[in-house]
Amino acid sequence: MPQAHNKASDWFDGLYKENKKNHENIPWARQAVNPLLQSYLDDEKVHQGKALVIGCGLSDDAMVLAEAGYEVTAIDVSQTALDLAQARFPDANITFKKQDIFEYAVRFDFVFEAFTIQSLPVEFREKMVKAVVNTIAKGGKLLLVAYKREEMFDGPPWPLTPKEVYLFKEEGLTELSQEIHTEESKISNTRFRVLYKK
Ligand SMILES: C[S@@+](CC[C@H](N)C(=O)[O-])C[C@H]1O[C@@H](n2cnc3c(N)ncnc32)[C@H](O)[C@@H]1O
Repeated sequence: MPQAHNKASDWFDGLYKENKKNHENIPWARQAVNPLLQSYLDDEKVHQGKALVIGCGLSDDAMVLAEAGYEVTAIDVSQTALDLAQARFPDANITFKKQDIFEYAVRFDFVFEAFTIQSLPVEFREKMVKAVVNTIAKGGKLLLVAYKREEMFDGPPWPLTPKEVYLFKEEGLTELSQEIHTEESKISNTRFRVLYKK
């Protein structure tokens, strides 16, 4: 039975298909590690255990996590994105998996989520937060990166408000740090980087 979010999630595969050879046309694809993940990896000394990258896209972030020492699973609903990622990193020690985050019950020591939650309409927010929290093992960590907005925004994407970021605490996570970073963008010049523990 198709779920309500499927239409929104399926849209991504078409965009990846159209831009198989023009990755620069994929708006979120930096083709470089997310700097807010890199600074986390630089600051933390120990990188071991099972890591999950949610909505991995072209997978530069998954690649850096694997190089840091994690056993990485990278999931995305778009098979095209996963094929492109595998072609970019053929020797990577990463398990690429076509997987809907709303239907995933496996738990990880470290979960990295950047820009997937905000890529689906606000009506899916609470369900999405629950789905993300469900992938973290007890004692595991979540590093969340998302654009920040104070008020609702007519997306896509739909950046997170501070109240929506609070949903993770309501789901039982402990916030270890929350930083607001500035970087120019058409969507919002501020973004959250929040580290949680379960
Ligand atoms: C805005 S992109 C961000 C990609 C990547 N995280 C990055 O920072 O470059 C959102 C990604 O989430 C994937 N996605 C959308 N809905 C999903 C779902 N329900 N489960 C898993 N992945 C999903 C899309 O295919 C897309 O690759």
